Amino acid sequence: MMKIIRDIPSLRDQVRRWRHDGETVGLIPTMGSLHEGHLALVRQAKQDCDHAIATIFVNPTQFAPSEDFDTYPRDETRDIDMLNGLETDLLFSPNVDEMYAKGFSTSVAVSNITQCLCGAARPHFFGGVVTVVSKLLLQALPDRAYFGEKDFQQLQVIKRMARDLDIPVDIQGVPTIREADGMAMSSRNKYLSANQRKIGATLYQVLQDIATRLTAGEHADAVLLDGAATLKAAGFDPIDYLEIRDSETFEPLETNNGTARIFAAAFLGETRLIDNIAVRAV
Ligand code: PAJ
Repeated sequence: MMKIIRDIPSLRDQVRRWRHDGETVGLIPTMGSLHEGHLALVRQAKQDCDHAIATIFVNPTQFAPSEDFDTYPRDETRDIDMLNGLETDLLFSPNVDEMYAKGFSTSVAVSNITQCLCGAARPHFFGGVVTVVSKLLLQALPDRAYFGEKDFQQLQVIKRMARDLDIPVDIQGVPTIREADGMAMSSRNKYLSANQRKIGATLYQVLQDIATRLTAGEHADAVLLDGAATLKAAGFDPIDYLEIRDSETFEPLETNNGTARIFAAAFLGETRLIDNIAVRAV
């Protein structure tokens, strides 16, 4: 049975014992409401490491006051069943007071690559993410930590943070897990009506179409205009961004350079969906 820990000293104690015995530890930070995308991270950690620790913490500092912190789906009993099914060793599920003690006044910030895409659309977001992830990494001190390419900018920002702060944890990216129709799995897909859920798959289709046309040598401007028009016609409104950028530097690109990635974020009703794919090599 998976061990459940809610306080930092007990987490440190367990990891210290494992590491003392020469065993490796993989950490999988999540906000719960788990799906196959999260489970892919757990499976990868189980494959690479002797022990897998999942964390569930709906992090208030990465939500703006107008966003969905209060309504974010929470179902710890179901999450625990799913993690047990994969023989996860430990769940760390602290409450807000354990993570942000009274008087908490420190934050971590990554510049440059946080200015565009989700950072431009949600200015509070990456500060909250890197603050909580650096705390989780320092609390658990795992050998490796796993993040999904579904949130590709988040993955790159976390890699940069760990490198810049010399946090001795190897940050691993895991490919996006999709539904049968191609839609990226997300906890927020639960918000969609049946009709919106059908429309949702258009986001991935548009990304694929853009990738095909860029690979054929077309210029970004025309391809992105068509992509945005398709999203609008399907019912996405507003489109936060639909852009082609370098996957390392996040510089905007006009043609495929071999490391290009297409990034999209758009609303279906109240629900904000994001997705991204690599453009195949030139
Ligand atoms: P959350 O949205 O719960 O996602 C937890 C991890 O699962 C992230 O690394 C995310 O990229 C990955 N993930 C989500 N959907 C996925 C999919 N379809 N395929 C592959 N991986 C997927 O991202 C967060 O939580 C938070 O910002 C967090 C990093 C935990 C900090 O609070």
